[in-house]
Amino acid sequence: MNSLFSPLKAGLIELPNRIVMAPLTRARGGAKHVPSAVMAEYYAQRASAGLIITEATMIAADGCAFVEEGGLFNEACVAGWRGVTDEVHRRGGRIMVQLWHPGRAAHSALNGGSQPISSTDRAIQNDTIRIPGLGAQPYEVPRRLETHEIPGIVKLFGEATRRAKQAGFDGIQLHAAHGYLLDQFLRDSVNDRSDAYGGSIANRAKLLLEVVDVASREIGAGRVSVRISPLVDYNDIADSNPSELVAYLAAEFERRGLSFLELRQHAHVLPAEEQLVGIARQHFHGVLMLNGGFDQASGEAAVSSGRADAIVYGRAFIGNADLVKRFAVGAPLNAMDATTLYGPDGRGYTDYPVLPA
Ligand SMILES: Cc1cc2nc3c(=O)[nH]c(=O)nc-3n(C[C@H](O)[C@H](O)[C@H](O)COP(=O)(O)O)c2cc1C
Repeated sequence: MNSLFSPLKAGLIELPNRIVMAPLTRARGGAKHVPSAVMAEYYAQRASAGLIITEATMIAADGCAFVEEGGLFNEACVAGWRGVTDEVHRRGGRIMVQLWHPGRAAHSALNGGSQPISSTDRAIQNDTIRIPGLGAQPYEVPRRLETHEIPGIVKLFGEATRRAKQAGFDGIQLHAAHGYLLDQFLRDSVNDRSDAYGGSIANRAKLLLEVVDVASREIGAGRVSVRISPLVDYNDIADSNPSELVAYLAAEFERRGLSFLELRQHAHVLPAEEQLVGIARQHFHGVLMLNGGFDQASGEAAVSSGRADAIVYGRAFIGNADLVKRFAVGAPLNAMDATTLYGPDGRGYTDYPVLPA
């Protein structure tokens, strides 16, 4: 029987434990989105995680949806991330970068006037985006990508994967969750296309699978993972048949030999959430990681029962760089300070107390 402390092989990546750090946007990349020394220190402090997955990282210079998130769209970004991966590896860790395009969740004011792009020309409703100097703004109407432009998106992911390899990452995670660009193609409340990238599940999954394939060619499928969140409605998105969507994707990922699939859900308590875990397991026989609302006990239960191969922890890693050790010795966790989540420096980022050595 496995526990959170059992080693795990996820594709070509060897994890010493099954306590994985979730992708967490923390906005310390500066105006040029180049990872800095404080980011190297932050990630390296967390090197005891079985695996670190970085914050959502821009694959295109005009693909910004927050402020000062990390990028991987030019050589300066590669050099910045090299500083991070070197330091994580020096302290014995493993780190994969989450590659991301926000699609219609971007805003022209963050991207030199570029109109956001999407699978659709309908804007995110009933939500706002925070723009420095302007405050909360409505989301903009996106430009629907023409069919002939889609290879250009695949290419952006391929080039970012190549840069990830140059920057020394152990692998990449494709962010196909949370209503961002890849998810805007996957789920049918947003994808209203009538071309080869819309309509059937196979058509809606086509962009993601083309991106998986290009990334696999660049770095090897055993170093590629995908995060999906079929039931999460963040960024105004839903799907009419999440079970079928997961069954199709899981089977395609199985065929391609991904390093792991990460299923991000709200809290892993609803019957619909449990059902999707079963469907993912049925069709994908590689490593399945679960995220969303786990504590140590529920994570341990999911791993020991075989429902999950590893648990991805988000908020717990913000305040606890030594989360693995705290779990091991049963120490209490530091609470996360929500006022220092996003920038600008090491306060509330690299200065949470750790247990004595
Ligand atoms: C501050 C913050 C930033 C986040 N940034 C990202 C991100 O960049 N990419 C992503 O896929 N999820 C992101 N998430 C979601 C987390 O990865 C995770 O799914 C969520 O916190 C639920 O896991 P938890 O219950 O263990 O915290 C973020 C969450 C928080 C709180």
